[in-house]
Amino acid sequence: MREMEERAVAAYRERFGTAPEVVTSAPGRVNLIGEHTDYNGGFVLPCAIDRRVAVALGRGPGGLHSADFGETRPTTGPLEHAWPDYPRGVAWALAEVGHTLPEWRAAFAGDVPRGSGLSSSAAIEAATALALDALAGLDLSRAELARCCQRAENGYLGINSGIMDQYASLLCQADHALLLDCRSLREEQVPLDLDAAGVALLVCDTGVRRNLAADGAYNERVAECRRAAAALGVAQLRDARLDDLGRLSGSGVEPRRARHVVTEDARTLAAAAALRAGDFATLGRLMDASHASLRDDYDVSSPELDAFVEIAREMGAIGARLTGAGFGGCAIALVSPEALASVTGAVADAYAARGFGPPMFYRFWPVAGAEIVTQARGE
Ligand code: GLA
Repeated sequence: MREMEERAVAAYRERFGTAPEVVTSAPGRVNLIGEHTDYNGGFVLPCAIDRRVAVALGRGPGGLHSADFGETRPTTGPLEHAWPDYPRGVAWALAEVGHTLPEWRAAFAGDVPRGSGLSSSAAIEAATALALDALAGLDLSRAELARCCQRAENGYLGINSGIMDQYASLLCQADHALLLDCRSLREEQVPLDLDAAGVALLVCDTGVRRNLAADGAYNERVAECRRAAAALGVAQLRDARLDDLGRLSGSGVEPRRARHVVTEDARTLAAAAALRAGDFATLGRLMDASHASLRDDYDVSSPELDAFVEIAREMGAIGARLTGAGFGGCAIALVSPEALASVTGAVADAYAARGFGPPMFYRFWPVAGAEIVTQARGE
């Protein structure tokens, strides 16, 4: 068992006095490219990362216990804008689509950095969904579980997010990125053997935190895209073409939002093609262009994210961009392993010189999605 899985099991035993019936864990993700496209029916290219949330779960009373926060909360309750919302939301979503769950309790432990755009929330949701599915014998597919997790975000948490994070956490494969068509949910596993390619996936956590539900900026972008699609007479921006966008001119931010989505979809498909061909140089250029589009057209970057991208590039990164929703959080860069120390050093110096808080750096490898670690037999 991994360290966080052992901690979840120990916390369950300590808290509830018995062994759990099911133990699962699910990873966070970084998105290589395809940002703010999922809720527009478009394309994304994430990979799961070697940071996970583990859930030890069983039947009975006792609530939800977090080993990381050292607190126990009821299994149901009003929205708290805190960690219990995610497992509660998943159980709510399963009930919404007609599944009956027994009384359940769970302990959680994880090492996905929280609130930084690496999908710690999707990891809790995915691990909980997989564990509840196993406990109740629901036999749902991974894709169905991902849709339930998204329903939890949309209907329970009130965040109009797309399906990328939950899909990545449940369906990614090791040493692959996942090209997902977020409308048809057609997926393709695209090989991403970083070590063989001599490429390191560097993540810079700017330390600037934001809560998607709290400030509403994410939902505002979703609404702007819907307005743009309606004005263009298409179901979703995925259906719009660059040539059509002239028809939006003069109507506020919508033309820029739409331009980002339409060009980002094209970049994502081109990036997947580059990856299939092992062409990291092209992938890197597309990542750079994605960042510029998110900064200038989508307005979701920040001075800290821009500084990382700019410096990483100056120091020879193959490509760099913010990852996830933006507005703070993390940025990624593809760099040669030899350059890691010089890039992180230069970024840390620049952050200090510009009066930003200290950044945190991680190097991740693409891992497989959620898994059942143990399940008691004969239930
Ligand atoms: C968040 C959401 C995703 C996606 C990204 C932006 O991570 O949860 O569904 O929209 O932002 O690409």
